[in-house]
Amino acid sequence: IANWKSNKTIKETEEWLHSFSDGVKRKGVNVEGKTVIVAPSFTSLEHAHYCLGNLKLSLKFAAQDISPFDEGAHTGEVNGRQIKELADYVIVGHSERRKNFGEDEEMVNQKIEHSLKQELTPIVCVSILEQTQKSKLKSQNYNSKLKSYENKVVIAYEPLFAIGSGKPDTPENANEFAKSIKNELGEIPVLYGGSVKSDNVKSFTSMPHIGGVLVGGASLDPLEFLKIIKNA
Ligand code: PGA
Repeated sequence: IANWKSNKTIKETEEWLHSFSDGVKRKGVNVEGKTVIVAPSFTSLEHAHYCLGNLKLSLKFAAQDISPFDEGAHTGEVNGRQIKELADYVIVGHSERRKNFGEDEEMVNQKIEHSLKQELTPIVCVSILEQTQKSKLKSQNYNSKLKSYENKVVIAYEPLFAIGSGKPDTPENANEFAKSIKNELGEIPVLYGGSVKSDNVKSFTSMPHIGGVLVGGASLDPLEFLKIIKNA
């Protein structure tokens, strides 16, 4: 997953997609068995969706956030029904939102709920195990709810010290954490995020409990992101 955070204008988004597409064709990168997801800003999401139709890339899109409310009088919020037109996934509870925008467990849970209601797959970011334990996903009716929505949930383990620092967690530690999450929540995909690059991605994805990576900084360069996909 490429998490662009608060980067790229519409034009820059288009340029990224074209370079990525050229790279895929030139290098013949085989993405079989891999799900490639790009999370642009809301302002770029519609155009990215449009470009995808022309470029015929097998990419999926994620929104970086979702309103904890249904549509209505919530100035500045983008709700699940609006997101559903343009994306299949939503990043929920990223540590930058928890830290800088005061998102607590209750709000994260509301966002998970609204994602599932619209059949969007939430990619729930956690940095400590307690966040998984307090999550709605742990609640008793979670399984029946998931069944009724026929949806999946993805967890991303993102230790705070590793985000944007150039100092990733060790693959062994990340694997242990992923294993603990699965003990709590069952067999759901767990990703690792925090300073992932093309030269360290394999050390994480080769771990038995890690199903993929969430990439911030290194995903801004389309060719580096392509290398990450290739090496994963
Ligand atoms: P980073 O960010 O790859 O720049 O460390 C990861 C993230 O915050 O999702």
